[in-house]
Amino acid sequence: MVQRILLVCGSLQRASANRRALEVVGAHLATIGGVEVDEFDEVAAIPGFNPDVGETAVPAVGSFLERIAAADTVVIAGPEYAGALGGAIKNALDWVVGAGHLSGKPVVVLSAGTTGGVNARFDLIRTLSWQGAHVVGGLGIAGPRTKSDADGRFTDPATLADLRDLAALAATAATLPGEARLELVVQMTAAAGVGTERIAPVPT
Ligand SMILES: Cc1cc2nc3c(=O)[nH]c(=O)nc-3n(C[C@H](O)[C@H](O)[C@H](O)COP(=O)(O)O)c2cc1C
Repeated sequence: MVQRILLVCGSLQRASANRRALEVVGAHLATIGGVEVDEFDEVAAIPGFNPDVGETAVPAVGSFLERIAAADTVVIAGPEYAGALGGAIKNALDWVVGAGHLSGKPVVVLSAGTTGGVNARFDLIRTLSWQGAHVVGGLGIAGPRTKSDADGRFTDPATLADLRDLAALAATAATLPGEARLELVVQMTAAAGVGTERIAPVPT
């Protein structure tokens, strides 16, 4: 069965380390048979969440929801600003709650930033878990500028290997047996201080 993987870049700036990290993930996924990759890089077009507005009334939100619904697994890269997840990607994820499209879906999170984005990743794990997503893995990349060339492309061998491992996990996450998937989710949520009561059942 083909695995459809959606890559979501939560950074808006052009020279984004998180986008560069997703490029590595996407390039590796493209080498794996039976995987289709989609990329959502329109977070900047998503307005502030307003429960009074229907999701389908905003084209960028409608597109985000459709592409999440079509994906087997989602990879989200979010920047960390001032000790927390960047607001634009948190806002984009708030639009998904009502539709429930992330419920029971495997998600892999990463953050490239000065400290490795531990707060951004934990915020992602928390907000994704609260809407029923299964965060099965994550990666922090500290000091991304020291691990890349002048154009921001990652060159550090250890970082490239970590990103390839993350891609391999994303490619198989939706096909893991339920127990194996939940084991990963328990590890990720525990690290982020999210209670086990937030872990949604694996869809049958
Ligand atoms: C206003 C501002 C606040 C930041 N705060 C943090 C922070 O709290 N922790 C951290 O690790 N990095 C922080 N950074 C560094 C960013 O995480 C880093 O620039 C990262 O590369 C941003 O992601 P991007 O390159 O994908 O846009 C901050 C950067 C800016 C501009």
